[in-house]
Amino acid sequence: MTDRSISGAISNGHERRALQPRTPGSVRIAAVGDFHCGPDDVGVYRELFARVNDEADVLVLTGDLTRWGALAEFKVVVGELADVTVPIVSVLGNHDYESGHVEEGSRMLRARGVHLLCGDTFELNPTVGFAGVKGFMGGFGRGMLTPFGEPETKSFVNATLNEVHSLELALRRLATPVRVAVLHYAPIAATIAGEPEAIHPYLGTDRLAEPLDRYSAAVAFHGHAHSGTLRGTTLGGVPVFNVSLPLLRRERPGAMYYLYDVNATARADAPKVMSVG
Ligand SMILES: [Fe+2]
Ligand SMILES: [Fe+2]
Repeated sequence: MTDRSISGAISNGHERRALQPRTPGSVRIAAVGDFHCGPDDVGVYRELFARVNDEADVLVLTGDLTRWGALAEFKVVVGELADVTVPIVSVLGNHDYESGHVEEGSRMLRARGVHLLCGDTFELNPTVGFAGVKGFMGGFGRGMLTPFGEPETKSFVNATLNEVHSLELALRRLATPVRVAVLHYAPIAATIAGEPEAIHPYLGTDRLAEPLDRYSAAVAFHGHAHSGTLRGTTLGGVPVFNVSLPLLRRERPGAMYYLYDVNATARADAPKVMSVG
């Protein structure tokens, strides 16, 4: 079993008392999303992000790095990350797609050295690896949209299923025993609690939780639901954290990321089901 007896805390880089000392062999992840950089954010996050070098082993960004996905905004993001020396793993969010510059924006992030995951993987070390997709919407539980009726409905649901499939393939491809999932959309309803119920179907889908459970992810991070809830768990027991910056700052003013220790010494479960990709 993956050891999920981990610790977590919201950090603003000043106080560390909330987080226990690292256990030997653990990897400390700093995770945040939805900082929505705009042209007037130059310098706003740079120093806060730089603190991650002392606080964590890896920085995870869960998308909505920009407001409208403009190239000038991607440039601001790159500048704000300039002093980060630990590896950066990221997915994109819906806002990053808005202006149609996602390819060039992605190139800018990758040129900075960001491991931008769109169904890809990143192995931090031989034990801990990351699988990332943006994910998509579609609803939860009995409210989940099904591919019935018009072609438009089917193509909408197929967009969701493609993201789920990409996540599954990425998790399966990871050779590391500890697998960390990075998403923009929520894979469970618990971490969007607090958002108006009318928009829940647009905040994610629990179809995304199936691969997390099947491949025994050690933990999953997502954003998108600014007014959601920090912690939740999949039906299979995978811890899920909504690390949207507005949410973190509601919990702790001045916060810049959520810190989470994952045990990198225990072997994770083998996949429960092998699927054919
Ligand atoms: Fe957002
Ligand atoms: Fe979003």
